[in-house]
Amino acid sequence: DDSKTGVKGLIDAGVDKVPKIFIRPPDELAEELKICQTSLQVPIIDLSGIEKEDRHQEVVQEVRIASEKWGFFQVVNHGIPCSVLDEIIDGIRMFHEQNPEVKKSYYTRDQMRRVRWETNYDLFQSRAANWRDTLNISMLVSDHLDPEEVPTACRASAIEYIKNVTKLGDTLFELLSEALGLKRDHLTAIECGGGRSFVGHYYPACPEPELTLGVSKHSDPAFLTVVLQDQLGGLQVMHQNQWVDVQPIHGGLVVNIGDLLQIISNDKFRSVDHRVLANNVGPRISMAFFFSGAFATPKLYGPIKELITEQNPPLYRNFLVSEYIGKFKAKALDESLLDHFKL
Ligand code: SIN
Ligand code: FE2
Repeated sequence: DDSKTGVKGLIDAGVDKVPKIFIRPPDELAEELKICQTSLQVPIIDLSGIEKEDRHQEVVQEVRIASEKWGFFQVVNHGIPCSVLDEIIDGIRMFHEQNPEVKKSYYTRDQMRRVRWETNYDLFQSRAANWRDTLNISMLVSDHLDPEEVPTACRASAIEYIKNVTKLGDTLFELLSEALGLKRDHLTAIECGGGRSFVGHYYPACPEPELTLGVSKHSDPAFLTVVLQDQLGGLQVMHQNQWVDVQPIHGGLVVNIGDLLQIISNDKFRSVDHRVLANNVGPRISMAFFFSGAFATPKLYGPIKELITEQNPPLYRNFLVSEYIGKFKAKALDESLLDHFKL
């Protein structure tokens, strides 16, 4: 079964041309010619010293500006040791590079399985296949992840990373709450940090990188995403109508606002399109950790009441996260969902 070899399987079999299904549609390839070089950089926010009130207020302002203008920022000195980051990158690599028979035991299109090895899980939503394989671990419905469920190649490193990034998530939601002018615990109290999942991507070296993409243009369906990338680069964010490289920073983490946070902030914070280029060197390894909100409980989300005024009326209706995710899975990857929830 071809679909079970993954993109890595194609490379291992000696494929030296990008198969047709991976080739970007002509309009997307043409779009590339219009893109100019830019020296702009995604804001970098130093989280050291945020327990001191002065510095804390500065960081809140930096988070506010980045979330309004970019929808993306990078954090350094965030408290997660470099060794924890390096180890999960290694763990993801080892998972993807192990004996294919072991990987196949995790292969499924059943979205209810908590641990899945997938190649192009979003193929039916995409206009072309993407040059990457993914390990997907979901804690959406229940927070409790039994360590035994995690593949051995990345078990210890993933458990350690999840513990650390969950804690960082609490800090980020506090900063984001204050950046919205709300009480520090507001976003945590409405469980934005609940419903977590992560994906460990493996982007093999590609023989014809200009013909395809690692990940097509999309915005994230979560409240917030924390991305750990290795040193190869390739992640790009749309800013002022240009693709801007998100420079790899060893020890740094990329944070991006998802659609759900754009909605509850009533468009104050922006969920911005991003993509990953294919590269002729590789593999590139990355890990995206999603905070998707209360998923299992019937909690309604919509523009936060405290942010609504006569001059700033609600732009969206209320909905359940499960309804949102259901719609997300049925749409094209590059189609925006925000309109479906507009009032
Ligand atoms: C993504 O945003 O879907 C992937 C991020 C990355 O691999 O850097
Ligand atoms: Fe993304």
